[in-house]
Amino acid sequence: MNLTLKSPLDMHVHLRQDDMLKQVTPFTSSQFAGAVCMPNTQPPVDTIERYRAYVREVTEAASPFAFAPYVPLFFREDFSREELTAAREELFAIKLYPAGVTTNSEGGVAELSKIEPVLDMMQDLDLPLLVHGETHGYSPDREREFVSVYDHIASTFPKLRVIMEHITTSDAAEFLDKHENVFCTVTLHHMLYTLDDMLGGMFDPFLFCKPILKSPKDRAAIQSLVLSGHEKVMFGSDSAPHTEVMKRTEGMAGCFTAPMLLPMLAEFFEDHDKLELMQAFVSDNARRIYGVTPPERTVVLEKAEWTVPPRYGSIVPVNAGQTLRWKLV
Ligand code: DOR
Ligand code: ZN
Repeated sequence: MNLTLKSPLDMHVHLRQDDMLKQVTPFTSSQFAGAVCMPNTQPPVDTIERYRAYVREVTEAASPFAFAPYVPLFFREDFSREELTAAREELFAIKLYPAGVTTNSEGGVAELSKIEPVLDMMQDLDLPLLVHGETHGYSPDREREFVSVYDHIASTFPKLRVIMEHITTSDAAEFLDKHENVFCTVTLHHMLYTLDDMLGGMFDPFLFCKPILKSPKDRAAIQSLVLSGHEKVMFGSDSAPHTEVMKRTEGMAGCFTAPMLLPMLAEFFEDHDKLELMQAFVSDNARRIYGVTPPERTVVLEKAEWTVPPRYGSIVPVNAGQTLRWKLV
């Protein structure tokens, strides 16, 4: 039995830079026709020059696969209208990180009250806003607390497309329908796991990510949202590689899921008897929402077991040792 997908897309992934980028990018480009490649590199991709260089670097690492790197610029409070207008044709979107909420976000926005001039320009230029929506509050509540920020932005700028990245809570799922201009991505790990998988038994550092995993009730809300076939929901893995040493000694946040994304998504949809919804979730919704046309590719999965290796080079995947039912052809 085979499953055929047309130009699947991963609308949120961390490909890093240099050697790490060369190592991890093929896992994404072999399965996906394009991906939103996050700009939280060091330094961040926050100028047009860095943007062009990063697109080039990713495209090279993605070869020989036809692959569209959609790179959002890292939000700067001092973007000028001239700068964004001049580059509009090549730009994809802008990603906002509140300062310090996650890996390499120190240069993010310190005061959310100051971002409105840039949001106004983005609305005029029809540049989508991608957001890591967490406050600096108590960690399980950070996303819930941020919903009022989304509400304010979406109502103040009704023509600005706002994408709530990697939503994890019932609150965010419910909020999705409040404004026409709000959309979201969902990760595989937040659909599959809860906080207990990370720390209910022996601590599993490879499941530590931001936003942190949530309760069974939140996971159920995210699963129902995806399984309802909601048209504003896109797949975005948030696969975020760190070396095993950095995970274990520095406590870096990020789940590495890139090599097994489509096989595990197929398993998830099949377990819920909803395989027919996978195409829209991994491609069609994103194409419509962003108006992108990725390279035309056909990606085929076959019903064949394989076991996830204990590590890929220096990186440990979230579900090392697990046997999966679907395999990339
Ligand atoms: O767990 C995470 N890791 N969440 C993020 O938002 C960033 C990412 C990373 O870059 O490592
Ligand atoms: Zn991310």
